Amino acid sequence: MPNIIYCDNAATSYPKPPAVYDAVLDFMKNVGGSPGRSSHALAVKASRVVFDAREACSRLFNVTDSSRIIFTRGATESINLALFGLLRDGDRVVVTALEHNSVMRPLRHLSRTKGIRVDVVPCSAQGLIDLDAFERTMKTGAGLAIINHASNVCGTIQPIEHLGAVARANGALFMVDAAQTAGALPIDVRAMGIDLMAFSGHKSLFGPQGVGGLFIREGITCTPLIFGGTGSGSDSDEQPDFMPDKFESGTLNGPGIAGLAAGIDFITKTGIDAIQEHGKELTGRFLAQLANDSDVITVLGPKDPTAMLPTISLSMSGADAGEVARKLNDEFGLCLRVGLHCAPQAHRTLGTFPKGTLRLSFGYLNTIEEIDRIVVALRLVCGRSGKHI
Ligand SMILES: Cc1ncc(COP(=O)(O)O)c(C=O)c1O
Repeated sequence: MPNIIYCDNAATSYPKPPAVYDAVLDFMKNVGGSPGRSSHALAVKASRVVFDAREACSRLFNVTDSSRIIFTRGATESINLALFGLLRDGDRVVVTALEHNSVMRPLRHLSRTKGIRVDVVPCSAQGLIDLDAFERTMKTGAGLAIINHASNVCGTIQPIEHLGAVARANGALFMVDAAQTAGALPIDVRAMGIDLMAFSGHKSLFGPQGVGGLFIREGITCTPLIFGGTGSGSDSDEQPDFMPDKFESGTLNGPGIAGLAAGIDFITKTGIDAIQEHGKELTGRFLAQLANDSDVITVLGPKDPTAMLPTISLSMSGADAGEVARKLNDEFGLCLRVGLHCAPQAHRTLGTFPKGTLRLSFGYLNTIEEIDRIVVALRLVCGRSGKHI
């Protein structure tokens, strides 16, 4: 088996910084109590870990009050929480043509059960939202816009600050799906006018799988998705009405949250600008090397490292992407993803539906040397010489 090169970071990041593994294990071995329950030493220690993680998320996203951050199982749960908690019969929602199924499927369900109307704003073949169409649609009275900050298919970054301003000017709430961007790009919920933001803990934030969060701005009315024990107000069978307990019923994922905090600490120490720069360097190197192969390998999306995350979709003429991926895995140890990446609409926009694409998503822990090995492997599998520029 060849040495692994992991390039599926848009699905989940791997490997994690060593401090993340240490933090998860430390929670399991030395903390162990249930956060927010009991007043014994280990429960207090666990509560402290959760509090510190909430504070770390708040600092990263410039949230003033850390109780506005709710921990969930991931961006999918956060998005469901927001959509089911906010939308009422007949409400209108605006999305882009690049949304993930974690947005589209709950909306599809809500349109069937509650008559929610969903307006889809088109995007260019590079994955960029049509700004005029967005402005026009927002003027027609939608109450909520939910926008994918960066595509998990082709990496395109949307102009969030501008979109937030348009939503606000039209009296709508502005929600961001930051599953791909939290930890990868600077995010300032206040400067960007973000009212709600769903994030994954296990992608660019380097936490373990099964952890994520939702930011809800103060003053927004939202009902919980899950009701139950919170360790607070136990004399009542009414759900607490205060943050974050209102939305955090059931025992939290303590080890996951501890790992997430360690991931954020790594990002803070490394510097998010340095992380972004590294991503641009990897993307630039990869794109430049593949430029001579455009007759067999088509790069989709912006093809501009400054306009995208290091997530690149490819299609191949005359080759089956699934077969290419299998060979890349078996013969070269490349871990990547092929198919529709849970975003069928995005492929309609890129012209790659229903076959999908071969996606390589690089992370901070990928190296330039790995990029060079990936290019050689790709060229060989596509019947080219393994030489690179
Ligand atoms: C754009 C986007 N939104 C939402 C999700 C769901 O994230 P999670 O795995 O944290 O539920 C993903 C995951 O791939 C994603 O790429």
